[in-house]
Amino acid sequence: MKFTPSSKFLGFSNHFHSLLAPSFSPTPKFSSSFSATMSTLSTQNDTVTHKTQQPLQIAKRLEKFQTTIFTQMSLLAIKHGAINLGQGFPNFDGPEFVKEAAIQAIRDGKNQYARGYGVPDLNIAIAERFKKDTGLVVDPEKEITVTSGCTEAIAATMIGLINPGDEVIMFAPFYDSYEATLSMAGAKVKGITLRPPDFAVPLEELKSTISKNTRAILINTPHNPTGKDVHS
Ligand SMILES: Cc1ncc(COP(=O)(O)O)c(C=O)c1O
Repeated sequence: MKFTPSSKFLGFSNHFHSLLAPSFSPTPKFSSSFSATMSTLSTQNDTVTHKTQQPLQIAKRLEKFQTTIFTQMSLLAIKHGAINLGQGFPNFDGPEFVKEAAIQAIRDGKNQYARGYGVPDLNIAIAERFKKDTGLVVDPEKEITVTSGCTEAIAATMIGLINPGDEVIMFAPFYDSYEATLSMAGAKVKGITLRPPDFAVPLEELKSTISKNTRAILINTPHNPTGKDVHS
């Protein structure tokens, strides 16, 4: 059986290229191996495939979302030669001892699948730090899950807890992945805007927004970007 790439897949490759700034262009090696793969996969239907090429059809629940704000800001920074304050990481290297520990761990053979919810020593260390910071005691084996960053943790939590049609209250402005994640879960987002000068949670508005369909209130504290601590 011969595999012919669908026009949608080709559409994705174009979309991919159109997202890249000139300085991000794939190297010639990448570019040619990518094209070579494509031409090996498609043979007699090549012409037809190109003629009927359509943009990738995003799932309806995600149609309204564009690229992340980080991609947009990075492209603008490159275009205008500006300092990229949007990327969220420093322009200096991480500490030497952390890099050495990572290299050592790889040399020691700790380079296969890790336990899904975190290696035991890390879970224990997180529980200890959590207790120091908050006074709360949590079970490292049952109440801690290690993820690749907050975005994954929030997505896993929301998709795991929210049913389609549930309402989730969020405080605007909110981190850009939140809404996309909630759309994947089929949630209805109820936004409440935090306003200057103190960016406090408007309690009356919150009370009137809560309904029998409210499943969660997503709290980010201290709040990005206002810095508001909901406890204050
Ligand atoms: C409020 C907020 N939520 C989530 C994230 C995402 O965190 P991560 O980069 O660990 O996925 C960030 C990152 O800056 C953030 O500011």
